[in-house]
This record gives sequence, structure tokens and C-alpha cells, in this order.
Amino acid sequence: MNPQLAESPFLLACRRQAVPHTPVWFMRQAGRSLPEYRKVRAGTEMLTACATPDLVVEITMQPVRRYGVDAAIFFSDIVVPLKAIGIDLDIKPGVGPVVAEPIRDAAAIERLRPLEPGDVPYITEAVTELTKELGPTPLIGFAGAPFTLASYLIEGGPSKNHDHTKSMMYGAPGLWHALMDRLTTITLAWLKVQADAGASALQLFDSWVGAVAPRDYREFVLPYTSRIFAGLEELGVPRVHFGVGTGELLHVMGEAGADVVGVDWRVPLDEAARRVGAGKALQGNLDPAILLAPWEVVRERARAVVEAGRAAEGHVFNLGHGVLPSTDPNQLARLTDYVHEISAR
Ligand code: CP3
Repeated sequence: MNPQLAESPFLLACRRQAVPHTPVWFMRQAGRSLPEYRKVRAGTEMLTACATPDLVVEITMQPVRRYGVDAAIFFSDIVVPLKAIGIDLDIKPGVGPVVAEPIRDAAAIERLRPLEPGDVPYITEAVTELTKELGPTPLIGFAGAPFTLASYLIEGGPSKNHDHTKSMMYGAPGLWHALMDRLTTITLAWLKVQADAGASALQLFDSWVGAVAPRDYREFVLPYTSRIFAGLEELGVPRVHFGVGTGELLHVMGEAGADVVGVDWRVPLDEAARRVGAGKALQGNLDPAILLAPWEVVRERARAVVEAGRAAEGHVFNLGHGVLPSTDPNQLARLTDYVHEISAR
């Protein structure tokens, strides 16, 4: 391991230790907002790109080189481990993951076998290469959380109301728990592959869990997110837990066991710190759409995020969700510098 890594501002903030400046990275910092991404991706399907280590390394490095962000996020997708265990799915441009045969009965759930490291040699290869190339900059590995993965598998694709998902959750709880149990096992194995190959932190994306009420989170989701964070503890890397629309869930997410809780733009960070409770760092939470406004607006709103973030025991600056594809990369470059500058101590 690179000796400077442990002292990187990102890892210090995750561990709630003093930082030289507030660390910055952006969800979806690699991707369509970058011309250099569009260029290297031209003619290659998303899932093919994810299984090609040279491309994964190049795309992961692009925003690090361009912005000087404090962490890299591994270029992959939440459905890659499901594809790797044989689920017939694809990522359709402008749509997202689409599953050929939605999973709605016990037989389909039984086909979700555990993931072995040998299923994803290209992940081990890409992470190993990246940790060399990144030197003192941490690499964040990630996974989709069981609820969000379950939603794609049950609905067969992106969904607004998660009707089939909730129908199983409420109407067939036995099936629901069996599915969540299998997804938890797969997710843990997938995250361990990334940490074993050198990832310095792990983020669990529960993008769509904001669709459930706190009591349902507790009954139908918390047992699984808790099992994931407990299972990762022995790896000794910071664990980040993120979802969208989770204002009313922050309290119970705080119980799941992550070191850092990601917050979307709807809840100011000082309020989020109260909801999440003691012993956690926060990550977030500028509305990604603010980057579409003039720089003067971005600057003012970014300052407010940095100031509200001082209420947290540790703060990693990020957006409240992913970079929108129409974002001007120059805004992200200025934002990175600006946050570093105003938070320098
Ligand atoms: O820079 C990064 O953040 C790393 C890469 C990353 C991707 N997907 C690449 C990607 C990460 C962390 C993800 C996670 C992911 N994938 C999530 C959780 C994060 C979130 O945004 O809430 C979810 C819900 C998915 C499912 C998914 N995959 C969606 C919704 C889409 C977008 C569909 C579209 O075209 O608008 C994808 C495809 C995808 N994943 C792209 C990228 C760069 C776009 C592929 C392309 O270039 O065509």
C-alpha cells in the first residue's frame, strides 16, 4: 500500500480525523459529461467496457487527471456482479439496466447463485492496476445495495413507483427475504473482491431506497444493509452508505453500520448530522442541477454546503447525486479548486 494513502484527505475525513482541506469527489465523475469519456467509449457497449481492464483504468483516471479530485471511483456498474453470475441483462443507453426475465418467483430467486472471485477476474485486474496508477489517491470500490438491485431485478428495468418490488415486499415477504438474502451474499463477495485487490474505501449505493417508509426500511431492508456493513468491518476500509430521497431514513440508515452516510441535496448537512447521529462522517450534498447555473450561483451554494458540513464530525464534499451528463466539466474543475481553497486550514 502507498504510505501516503492513509494520510489522504478523503480517508482522514471518512475516519473523522483532522484534514488539510475538505476532500472532494463527485458521484458519476467519470462518464458522459467528459468528452474524453465519450471518445474512449465510442463503439463499445457499457457492459463490455466494464469487463475491459484497460478501459476501466483509463475511464477511472480521467476525472482524477482533469479535476484533481481527492478520490477515484471505480468505473463499473451496480449490475456487473449480477451479469457475472449469469443473469441475462443489459444496460441500455439513456434507460439504464434492463433485465430480460424479471425475477418474481422462488425458482428465479434460486438461480441467483453466490459470486466467486473467479467470476470477475477483470475486476481484480483493473483494481490492482488502478491502485498502482493512482499512487496516493484512494480508489473507492462500490456496489448497489440489495433494495436497489432487487428493484431492477423484479421490475425488469428502471421504475418510478417500484410497484412489483413493493408487491413482493408486502405481499410475499418470504420471497422478498429470500431474494434480499441472496443479493446480500453476492454484494458482500463483490465488495470483498474490490477491497482485496486494493480499493481503499467501499460505497454502497441504495439509490432507490428513498421509496420506502422508515418502518419498512427497518423490517425489509435494514437486516441486509447491516449484514453487509458488519461483513465488511474486518477489511478495515471506510464504508459509505448512500441513497436518494432518504431524508426520513437517515436516522435508521445511521444504525446500519457505515462509517460515512451520503446525503442527497434535500436535507442540509447540519440537519443530516443530527438525524444520522454521533460517530459518523457525512458525504454530500450539492444539488447536481446547480452546476447548470452560472458559476457565481455554484460558488455561493458550494460555500453553504461546506459551512453546513462543519456540523458533521467529518465531511466529504460531493454532489447530492450523480453528475448530470449535460454538466460543463469546467464547472466541476472550478468547484473542486474552490472547495479546497475555502476549506484549507
Ligand atoms: O463515475 C462514477 O460514478 C463511476 C461509475 C458508476 C456508473 N454507474 C457508471 C455508469 C457508478 C458508481 C454507477 C452506479 C449505478 N448504476 C447506480 C447507483 C448510483 C446512482 O446514480 O444512483 C445506479 C442506480 C446504476 C444503474 C444505471 N447504470 C443507470 C441508472 C445508468 C444510466 C442510464 C443512462 O444512460 O442514463 C447506468 C449506465 C451507466 N453507469 C453509465 C455510466 C457512466 C452510462 C453509460 C453510458 O455512457 O452510456
